[in-house]
Amino acid sequence: MPNETKHATWGGRFSSRPDALMQIFGESVSFDKRLASYDLKGSLGHAAMLAYVGLISAEELKEIELGIQELQEEILKDDFPWKLEMEDVHMNLEQALRGKTKAADKLHTGRSRNDQVATDMRLFFKDACSNLQVSLEGAMQALLFIAEKYASLPIPGYTHLQRAQPVTVGHHMLAHIESLGRDHERFSVVAKHANACPLGSGAIAGSTLPLDREYTAKILGFVDDDGNACLTANGMDAVADRDLFLEFASACSMTAVHLSRLAEDFILWNSSEFGFVTLPDSFTTGSSLMPQKKNPDCYELIRGKTGRIVGNLTNLLVLVKGLPLTYNRDLQEDKPPVFDSYDQLSLCLAVVKGCMEETVFNEKKCQLAASDPLLLATDLADFLVSKGLPFRQAHHVVGELVGLAESQGIRLSEIPDEDAKQISEFLTNDWREVFDLKRAFSMREKPGMPGPKQIASRIAHWNSILSD
Ligand code: ARG
Repeated sequence: MPNETKHATWGGRFSSRPDALMQIFGESVSFDKRLASYDLKGSLGHAAMLAYVGLISAEELKEIELGIQELQEEILKDDFPWKLEMEDVHMNLEQALRGKTKAADKLHTGRSRNDQVATDMRLFFKDACSNLQVSLEGAMQALLFIAEKYASLPIPGYTHLQRAQPVTVGHHMLAHIESLGRDHERFSVVAKHANACPLGSGAIAGSTLPLDREYTAKILGFVDDDGNACLTANGMDAVADRDLFLEFASACSMTAVHLSRLAEDFILWNSSEFGFVTLPDSFTTGSSLMPQKKNPDCYELIRGKTGRIVGNLTNLLVLVKGLPLTYNRDLQEDKPPVFDSYDQLSLCLAVVKGCMEETVFNEKKCQLAASDPLLLATDLADFLVSKGLPFRQAHHVVGELVGLAESQGIRLSEIPDEDAKQISEFLTNDWREVFDLKRAFSMREKPGMPGPKQIASRIAHWNSILSD
């Protein structure tokens, strides 16, 4: 059979090329071409190792390096002729290198696409984690800006979406910052797990050739803090393992879920019923029919995209669950959900930052809502405890007061002293002091509470972390 009818990379034992349909069905270059720079980097490391152990000459290494540099430039200029029939990013690049130097024929020595793609993705994950951390920092800085600007603005805190206790916008925003801070840490862990080099695992069982895995790992930056090479420990695991994909997709999901809960807070606060915030025109949209509408689309989309990002994690878990060791072609489908989670989460974080920076709190509405004396019912129970009443009884007394206020159609703080005293003798004349929000906050100065000093110190803490 003439050579051009065979697949250039693996065609040796085949008598016909893949069917046109199979080419379309089997290609991954349409989505894995975004790994090109990692693939070229991996090839440079592998080639350097081949030269180091004498499997290629210094001259061949030079030619490979020059060729790879040219390819890199073509890709950067968006000038690279990606070919569907070359299946994936790896074979496209190897084939193109072959057009530049004969030495390219030696590049795949002791390497399989299995350890190659595993390496590419580990390099991708390292970058993706640190980029997402930068995006997270941007979003956190914007939240911190709001936390600082409205540090002492009181709003009701909610449980069961019922008014519970007074907090401040500072306290509420810091709550979201804490959760994004954990996400930030989680991406460090994923990046740490990515830090092991699979090259040298080959297809599953390494190679009979005298490869130097440590050498490759070091060149590619798979090293610990002391500069020692970090290698995957088992060739079969190295090419079958998709834990990182799952961990990354899971860290993205968790971050998205946090953003989605934040989004929900702002959607509620933006409603006429709450009216706590005004979202910027630049991140809201109007209705094609109802002229008065200004919809919180950016936050609704974050909620919606969270479904997609969580779906990507589910997609990956199901993809991997039934696979025998080791590599199976199913695994080619592992990349689109990862890329999608990365892209969508990056966008969500940028949108939170952009929208938050322009968000304005309606201070009067917040203060009015926070002036509901029922928010301080628990403080009143605490007051009774400080007068010597056991908490269970104090709880009961306040419950009776609330019932009385409700039946008389007055605020809790408006119950006459005589009526109050009849319910409990512990309701001494000073009982109404409890309904002072300033007092309520100033008495909450233990770690984690919304006292002004606590909020200030947590804001300072995050400011120092985020300005590093
Ligand atoms: N495009 C393939 C993937 O992403 C590369 C690995 C192919 N390995 C193989 N044995 N066919 O999974």
